[in-house]
Amino acid sequence: MQSVEAAVASLPKIHLHCHLEGSLRAETFVELTKRAGISTRYRPGQADVPGPDDPAEVYSFADFGEFLLTFAAVSRSLAGPDDYARLAREFVADALAQRVIYGELFISPSVWAFFHPELDVPATIRLIVQELRAARAHGAEFALIADVTRNFGPESAMRTARMAAELAGDGVIGIGLGGDESRFPPELFGEVYAYARAAGLRAVAHAGEAAGAQSVRDAIEHLGAERIGHGIRALEDPAVLDLLRERAIPLEVCPTSNHLTGVAAKDAPHPFAALDAAGVIVTIDADDPALFRTSITREYELVARDVGLATLQRFIRQAVDASFLDAAAKRALRERIGAELARPSAY
Ligand code: HPA
Ligand code: ZN
Repeated sequence: MQSVEAAVASLPKIHLHCHLEGSLRAETFVELTKRAGISTRYRPGQADVPGPDDPAEVYSFADFGEFLLTFAAVSRSLAGPDDYARLAREFVADALAQRVIYGELFISPSVWAFFHPELDVPATIRLIVQELRAARAHGAEFALIADVTRNFGPESAMRTARMAAELAGDGVIGIGLGGDESRFPPELFGEVYAYARAAGLRAVAHAGEAAGAQSVRDAIEHLGAERIGHGIRALEDPAVLDLLRERAIPLEVCPTSNHLTGVAAKDAPHPFAALDAAGVIVTIDADDPALFRTSITREYELVARDVGLATLQRFIRQAVDASFLDAAAKRALRERIGAELARPSAY
């Protein structure tokens, strides 16, 4: 009988919720911090907080707040356009090695600019897009979503949205909302999303991760979010589950992320199966794979072990439908993976 690992390794993979910065290999992070003479740890308002320099230890955090600071530390280590190009190049290599064939990737340009005000952000994004396009020769395609960081407030968010609109059609397809959900609710960003949607950008938002079901409802009703990042706390309110079902709004579910940030109980099965059973559209994603010391492959394995390979394959098909590809591209992708997913598996 084929092992879960072998069965999952051979599957084509679709990754809709993945942060590019959160994919930085630990070894590269340590190298970049050493070169710049900075710590691997970042704490706001505190100069030079010592941090580990063993790649096996740099990505560790106790809760969601510490995770966000680790994400900030990683972003601080990415100083110039070449660093971002390297990040994208290594991302592509890691994605191709796992048979990722389509991905929509978050970037957080307002965090880059916070640490490196001199960085030419649009030029850096163009460089990233160029590196991602190298994957086409290997049958994989990636698009970018500019993730607005809530902590910087609506004005900074509008600047990010304007820049994303300028790069629309040039590799940037959408806008997202990340950062501290518990202190910066969706409704603060209504105008920003209205602008972005009018400019042709697709809309997603992290919600129902560090805040409850109401945050999911607000992301849909105030922002027009077409997909929700995480959204697992929708389970706290049946009316929000109804809303997700009625509007067919998919949840990008990231099991290991939720366990490590403490938003899902570690000692209980992840609630993705409950969401699926409630009729909500689920996709499986890795969020910040390097930071969470996971990968899209590992997340698929977790799911296959929990609910079986056939359900995992359905989640992959759901991800194609939930993607922001146009109808013709979705059809082509569905046909391409259809032949592979239908292949009988001994597992
Ligand atoms: N939530 C909020 N902000 C983030 C995340 C996340 O999962 N990943 C990177 N920034
Ligand atoms: Zn995320």
